[in-house]
Amino acid sequence: MRFSALLAFLPVVIAASSPNVKVQGNRCTVVPLGGGQDDGPNILSAFAQCASGGTVVLDKYYVVNTVLVTTGLKDVGIELSGTVQYTPNIAYWSPNSLFMSFQNATTYWFLSGDNIHLYGGGTLDANGQVWWDYPNKARLSSLECIKCTVGTAGGSSRTFARPVPLTVGNASNVLIEELTEIGSPFWNNFVYQSTNVTYRKMNISTTSYSSNPTANSDGWDIYRSSYITIEDSTINNDDDCVSFKPNTTNVVISNLYCNGSHGISVGSLGQYAGETDIVANVYVNGISMNNAQNGARIKVFGGSPDPNSSAGGGTGYVQNITFENFYVNNVDYPIYLNQCYDTDADICAEYPSKLTISDVHYINVHGMSSGNEGDVVVDLECSSECYDITATGTNLTSPSGTAVYYCENIATESELDFTCTMPPNTTSSS
Ligand SMILES: *[C@@H]1O[C@H](CO)[C@@H](O)[C@H](O)[C@H]1NC(C)=O
Ligand SMILES: *[C@@H]1O[C@H](CO)[C@@H](O)[C@H](O)[C@H]1NC(C)=O
Ligand SMILES: *[C@@H]1O[C@H](CO)[C@@H](O)[C@H](O)[C@H]1NC(C)=O
Ligand SMILES: *[C@@H]1O[C@H](CO)[C@@H](O)[C@H](O)[C@H]1NC(C)=O
Ligand SMILES: *[C@@H]1O[C@H](CO)[C@@H](O)[C@H](O)[C@H]1NC(C)=O
Ligand SMILES: *[C@@H]1O[C@H](CO)[C@@H](O)[C@H](O)[C@H]1NC(C)=O
Ligand SMILES: *[C@@H]1O[C@H](CO)[C@@H](O)[C@H](O)[C@H]1NC(C)=O
Ligand SMILES: *[C@@H]1O[C@H](CO)[C@@H](O)[C@H](O)[C@H]1NC(C)=O
Ligand SMILES: *[C@@H]1O[C@H](CO)[C@@H](O)[C@H](O)[C@H]1NC(C)=O
Ligand SMILES: *[C@@H]1O[C@H](CO)[C@@H](O)[C@H](O)[C@H]1NC(C)=O
Repeated sequence: MRFSALLAFLPVVIAASSPNVKVQGNRCTVVPLGGGQDDGPNILSAFAQCASGGTVVLDKYYVVNTVLVTTGLKDVGIELSGTVQYTPNIAYWSPNSLFMSFQNATTYWFLSGDNIHLYGGGTLDANGQVWWDYPNKARLSSLECIKCTVGTAGGSSRTFARPVPLTVGNASNVLIEELTEIGSPFWNNFVYQSTNVTYRKMNISTTSYSSNPTANSDGWDIYRSSYITIEDSTINNDDDCVSFKPNTTNVVISNLYCNGSHGISVGSLGQYAGETDIVANVYVNGISMNNAQNGARIKVFGGSPDPNSSAGGGTGYVQNITFENFYVNNVDYPIYLNQCYDTDADICAEYPSKLTISDVHYINVHGMSSGNEGDVVVDLECSSECYDITATGTNLTSPSGTAVYYCENIATESELDFTCTMPPNTTSSS
């Protein structure tokens, strides 16, 4: 009797041991330590105490120098009205950020569980500038220089791991809204092995204030996830606005303003021989794409003679993808589809891609290209045949006033509302 009474008091004892977590009913408010001290352990303590049916309140300015792994949450609110700033401590974060099993991605914060609502209008500041400016091996001998090791095909590096500010991983039924994210050293958001995740009213800005560019600053990367919605958001960056990686299905993207990006991108897919990559049921509607490399993009590697290839040869499919009401302003390739991505033209001709592309629809794609590709506004290049590709309401021009549309191996060329010409033979790796 006495013993169990003691046990019943144990949580209170733990709470009392963290004076910087104020527990009132089901609300756990983190009080910052101040003076640049690490608030990470107290944030973790607040999540532990409010992990079921509680609300974690982050309403001040917090310094975080501890990887946040908040898993097993159930019916949890996160009221983030303050600012969470990760320290510029590369020596800590590179080895200690949580490693995930895709493109060496690691994260500052792995948010996981069921029925999670993050809101409050606050900011995640990931201190990206120190990562972009990180000069060379001399400064920290165990790490490699950033420009040598950005990773391959948009990946990070194991020895210079640039963390993602917020990963929603192994999670279900998550709503994230009104969050500002600045200075991400890598992708801003990673949706990893999750289902039913919605982001709305997000404000993402990855801008370098020095001559060193940002790196892999994708707005979102989605991997092995389904039923994902991203809407009503602004993204200023220098890589994909949204990227659909292997096994992304049932996605709705609507009302985004993207600036400076590489486009709304399916892929790249099919990079690894022996692997199956699927992207299906994607509806993209109401995009304003400004000052970008691409608008609506699909990129798939070609085939490969090497059964162990890591540069093409994978299988799978891209199916039921719609880009609708898509405005472009100063975009190199408003519409871009390549099934020989980063693959030598001769190899790709002999070994066409084994990853099929079908049921892709472009509806009301309009606006002006940058002119960086001359008069080209559309580039659709398949290695094996792509079918059921349609375009209606296309209204694109280049700055010169004319438009050229490249198409190759499109079975349904008659269902495109522009006149195709054959592209010249090139290896594309944009
Ligand atoms: C992962 O990191 C290793 C070691 O730093 C690097 O060789 C490899 O290219 C990286 N992979 C990706 C996909 O970036
Ligand atoms: C995510 O789920 C996978 C598969 O169940 C598991 O192996 C992995 O450890 C989980 N990751 C985290 C950080 O919990
Ligand atoms: C998806 O998650 C939201 C919470 O973010 C929830 O309200 C909704 O019911 C879920 N949808 C399904 C189909 O479970
Ligand atoms: C987004 O956040 C930036 C600060 O990084 C701010 O200047 C801008 O006004 C915000 N934009 C919107 C649409 O809220
Ligand atoms: C959009 O991006 C360009 C660079 O590509 C930048 O000069 C401009 O300030 C950005 N616009 C906004 C509204 O942030
Ligand atoms: C994608 O899903 C397919 C079918 O379930 C599976 O065979 C394949 O291994 C998955 N690929 C990845 C990269 O998870
Ligand atoms: C195509 O994808 C959209 C968006 O996810 C979905 O609403 C629709 O049902 C899909 N169509 C088919 C035939 O699966
Ligand atoms: C492919 O990898 C397997 C396992 O590592 C190896 O046994 C095989 O010899 C490799 N094949 C080629 C053609 O490199
Ligand atoms: C095409 O776009 C131009 C420029 O926005 C516009 O003036 C023109 O009316 C549009 N044409 C059609 C057929 O919608
Ligand atoms: C382009 O490549 C195809 C297939 O390899 C070849 O048949 C054709 O002659 C090439 N055209 C030019 C202009 O090189």
